[in-house]
Amino acid sequence: SDPRLVERAEAARAALGDRAFVLGHHYQRDEVIRFADVTGDSFKLARDAAARPDAEYVVFCGVHFMAESADILTGAEQQVVLPDLAAGCSMADMAEYQQVVEAWDVLADAGVADVTVPVTYMNSTAAIKAFTGEHGGTVCTSSNAERALRWALERGQKVLFMPDQHLGRNTAVLELGLQLSDCVVYNPHKRDGGLTREQLRDATMILWQGHCSVHGRFAASSVVEVRERVPGVTVLVHPECRHDVVLGADLVGSTEFIIQTLDAAPAGSAWALGTELNLVRRLANRHPDKRIVFLDRTVCYCSTMNRIDLPHLVRQLETLAAGDVVNRIAVEPRTAENARLALDRMLALP
Ligand code: 13P
Ligand code: SF4
Repeated sequence: SDPRLVERAEAARAALGDRAFVLGHHYQRDEVIRFADVTGDSFKLARDAAARPDAEYVVFCGVHFMAESADILTGAEQQVVLPDLAAGCSMADMAEYQQVVEAWDVLADAGVADVTVPVTYMNSTAAIKAFTGEHGGTVCTSSNAERALRWALERGQKVLFMPDQHLGRNTAVLELGLQLSDCVVYNPHKRDGGLTREQLRDATMILWQGHCSVHGRFAASSVVEVRERVPGVTVLVHPECRHDVVLGADLVGSTEFIIQTLDAAPAGSAWALGTELNLVRRLANRHPDKRIVFLDRTVCYCSTMNRIDLPHLVRQLETLAAGDVVNRIAVEPRTAENARLALDRMLALP
C-alpha cells in the first residue's frame, strides 16, 4: 500500500490516541487490519465492542450489521463509525424486516408461532435482531450457533433461523443430530414462504432462504479436487458453506476457530481453507512452515468487506482527529433496545 497513506493513517491514529478504539474483522484487508486495536470474528468483536468505554469513537472495520451491533452494545456517549457506509452484507440484505413480520404471520396462521423461537445470525440488520429480541429469541454467531439452537429448542418446539440457511442446517444436522427432513426452507419471495401448513407443523427448523455470496460459492467438487491436488490435506471450512461442502470437509468452524486450528497445527501439515480470501492469505503468510491453500480458486474476496480500504480508513481517522464525525452508525433507540435483548441473550449463552 501507498507509504504516504500509511504515514497519514499512523499520524491520525496517533493524534486520536485513546479517544478512538479500532475494531477489525478477520476478513478485512491487511492494510486496514494492521491499524486495528482488536481483531476478531463477529462474536469476539461483539463481546469486545464495549471493552473501551472511555473511547469516544469506535471505528468499526467490518460491515454494516457489525457496526450496528457495536453501536447497540456500546455506551450512549460513544459514537460508532463505519469507514465506508456502502460496506453492507448481501446475506443480511436477504432478510428484510417486513418479510420477517409476514413470515411470523404465516407461522401464526399455521398455528406454530407460539411454539417457535426466532434465532437470528449476527449477520442481520438491527431491525431483525429487534424482532428476534421482542419475540423471545436470541442472536447467534458461527461460533455459538449450536448453543443458541439448544437454548432455543429448550424454550420452544421449533426455530425460525434467519438469514443463513446453511449455518442453520449445518448446525442442526451436524451438531444437534437433527435430520435433513426436520428442516424446511422459507422463501420470502413466495406466497406463505413456499411452504404448506403441514410442512410448517412437521418441521423443527424453519430456515430462511438466505446465504453468504462468498461462502455459498464453494462446491463439493472442490473438496474432492483439492484432496487429489494436495496429498494429506485437511479441509477446514466455515459453516456458512453449503451442507454438501461441510459434509465433505474434515473440520468446520468460525473464523476464530480456523485461526486457532492453524496456529496449533504442526509444521509441514497441509490445509485447504474454505473461507474468505483475505483471511486465507494472511494465514498462509503467517505460517510459512505449513502448506495453506484456498479451497476453490474461483471464489474471491467479500467485496463489501473489501470496501474498507486504506484510503477510506485514512479519511475516517483524519476527519475524526479534526473533530468531524462522518459515517456514523446510530441505531434508532427503540430498535436498539429490543435488539439488545437478543444480543444480551447470546452473550449470556452458557
Ligand atoms: P464469523 O466472523 O462469525 O466467522 O462470520 C464470518 C462472516 O461471514 C462475517 O461476515
Ligand atoms: Fe456477508 Fe458473506 Fe461478506 Fe460475511 S463474508 S459480510 S456473510 S457476504
